[in-house]
Amino acid sequence: MNILDVKNLSVTFDTPDGDVHAVKDVSFTLAEGKTLAIVGESGSGKSQSAFAMLGLLPKNGHAGGSVKYMGTEILNIPEAAINKYRANEIAMIFQDPMTSLNPYMRISKQLTEVLVHHKGMSKKEALKESIKMLDAVQIPEAASRVHMYPHEFSGGMRQRVMIAMSLLCGPKLLIADEPTTALDVTVQAEIMDLLIDLQEDFGMAIILITHDMGIVAGSCEDTLVMFGGEVMEYRPTIDLFDNPQHPYTKGLLEAVPRLDQDVETLSTVSYDFLQGGKS
Ligand SMILES: Nc1ncnc2c1ncn2[C@@H]1O[C@H](COP(=O)(O)OP(=O)(O)OP(=O)(O)O)[C@@H](O)[C@H]1O
Ligand SMILES: [Mg+2]
Repeated sequence: MNILDVKNLSVTFDTPDGDVHAVKDVSFTLAEGKTLAIVGESGSGKSQSAFAMLGLLPKNGHAGGSVKYMGTEILNIPEAAINKYRANEIAMIFQDPMTSLNPYMRISKQLTEVLVHHKGMSKKEALKESIKMLDAVQIPEAASRVHMYPHEFSGGMRQRVMIAMSLLCGPKLLIADEPTTALDVTVQAEIMDLLIDLQEDFGMAIILITHDMGIVAGSCEDTLVMFGGEVMEYRPTIDLFDNPQHPYTKGLLEAVPRLDQDVETLSTVSYDFLQGGKS
C-alpha cells in the first residue's frame, strides 16, 4: 500500500499584489519504507508543498488537491484531526534547527514534551525514552547531555537532536527538509548515513527535500524535480541520472562534482530552457 498519495497539490498565497501560485499540480506517490527526493532551486515550492501536507501553511496560504495518508484524506482537515497525524504518523525535520528548537529550554524538556503530549507518557518514562533516542542518533553521553540547552551543542549535534525529536513517536513517514544544508560537507555525509541507518531500523518512508543531487544519488529510489512550483520530472533516481529529460534537470546534474571526470570548472544551472517552456 502507498503510504502517501499526493494528487494535484497546489499552494496559493494571498498577497497585497494578488495571488502567488507557489505550488501547482504536484502529484506523486510514496510506498512504505521507500525514499523520495524532492529537489529544485530555492523558491521552487519544496517546503511549501511539505507544509501544505501537514496543515502548516502560513495564514495567507491555501492548499488545493488531495493528500492521502494510508488511503485517508489529510489535506485541509481540521486542526484537531491533522494533529493526530503530526509526530505520530508523519514527522518533519525543519530546515533550520535553531528555529525549531527553543533556545531557552533544555533539550530534555523539548524532547519529553513531545512524548507527554503525543503519547501520554509520564515525565519519567519520557525522559528515559528521550535519552534512548539521543543514543540512537549517536549523541555521546546522552544521559547527561539531555539536560543541556541547544546552544551548547554544535550545529551537527543540534541536527541530530532534531532528528531524535522527529523520531520520538515512531512515525511511518519522515519529511526531512534540507536536514544538512547548514552543516559542513563531512558532517552532512554523517547525518545522511545516520538517517539511512535509522530508516532501516525504524522501517519508515522518507521524503528528502534537498538542493544536493549528490546526496540524492546515494539514498533515494525516486526523484521529483521542481521548478517554479511545478514538477519538471518525477522518475526513478537511476533513470534520472542516466538520462535526464528536462533541461533544468540536466543542468542540475552537470553541476554535481564527479570524481570520475576531470573538469576545470563546474557548470552552473542555465535557464535558457525557459524560453522554450516546459518540455
Ligand atoms: N507567506 C507567503 N506569502 C507569499 N509567498 C510566499 C509565502 N511563503 C512562501 N512564499 C513563496 O512560495 C514560494 C515557494 O517557497 P518554498 O519555501 O516552498 O521554496 P523552497 O523550494 O523550499 O526554497 P528553499 O530551497 O530556499 O528552501 C516562494 O516563491 C516564496 O516566496
Ligand atoms: Mg525550503
